[in-house]
Amino acid sequence: MPNNTSLHRIRIWDLPTRSFHILLVLCVAGLLITGEVGDNAMQLHFWLGYAVLTLLLFRVVWGFVGGHWSRFVNFVPMPSQLSAYVQAVRMKQTPLNAGHNPLGALSVLAMLSILLIQVLSGFMSDDEITNTGPWVALIPADWVELATEYHSEIGKVLIIALVVVHVSTVLYYKYFKKEDLITPMLTGDKVLPVSTHDSRDTLTSRLFAMSILTGCGYVVYRLVNLS
Ligand code: HEM
Ligand code: HEM
Repeated sequence: MPNNTSLHRIRIWDLPTRSFHILLVLCVAGLLITGEVGDNAMQLHFWLGYAVLTLLLFRVVWGFVGGHWSRFVNFVPMPSQLSAYVQAVRMKQTPLNAGHNPLGALSVLAMLSILLIQVLSGFMSDDEITNTGPWVALIPADWVELATEYHSEIGKVLIIALVVVHVSTVLYYKYFKKEDLITPMLTGDKVLPVSTHDSRDTLTSRLFAMSILTGCGYVVYRLVNLS
């Protein structure tokens, strides 16, 4: 929507993508805390883990059918785009991006993949006291040992490292490059000097997202009850 200074308010992050982000942040924070607390907090740990898997499956589907800027095809960079972006950053000419910039896109993909691996390793983890993931009885004992070691030693550290890099980068953009990425992730809109695609964000698309989320919840329910 152009205004009289020829800036354009563009819907970049549709409500489903923004809700996905907020819920993911809350669940991952809750998982890191409940995992460390252990004991009685583990029941909540499992439920939050199932919620994260539902959210991740939703985000993958939404990456194909969601609003323009949430689609993988519109943010996963080709190697040539990536090297052009890195080159531009080196020359201190960082181009303005409507959606995720090419480096940000890689960190998004890394976070989604590492979170998925963490959830799946949790399904196969066993604390050898009272808490066993839902797939422990279905797989060989040495897989359980490997998955548990990965889940509690490696995956946890990788997630914390990626989140620290993610949040530091967003803050670096805000305070050093004076580009606020946080407000658009909360309100959905960016004000840009050029007009570009709006992400579809209507009542229908939001209801569509709810139905996808429900379907993903059902898939997770089946995965938890595989036996
Ligand atoms: C557990 C902590 C967090 C996780 C796992 C996480 C994960 C993610 C993911 C997966 C995306 C991609 C969104 C999508 O395309 O669907 C994203 C984007 C984003 N996150 Fe986070 N996030 C976390 C914490 C935060 C915090 C605390 C902030 C604010 C300071 C933040 C600000 C943002 C912003 C601004 C974007 C959009 C970046 C861009 O414009 O390219 N995140 N985050
Ligand atoms: C993104 C998702 C997840 C994160 C970030 C996460 C994080 C953690 C953390 C930090 C711990 C404590 C590790 C330690 O001992 O220091 C832990 C333990 C554990 N988690 Fe998760 N977890 C996730 C998902 C899951 C899921 C989905 C399940 C099961 C369905 C699960 C089952 C377990 C079990 C059984 C333990 C105890 C392992 C042991 O004592 O060695 N986790 N998790």
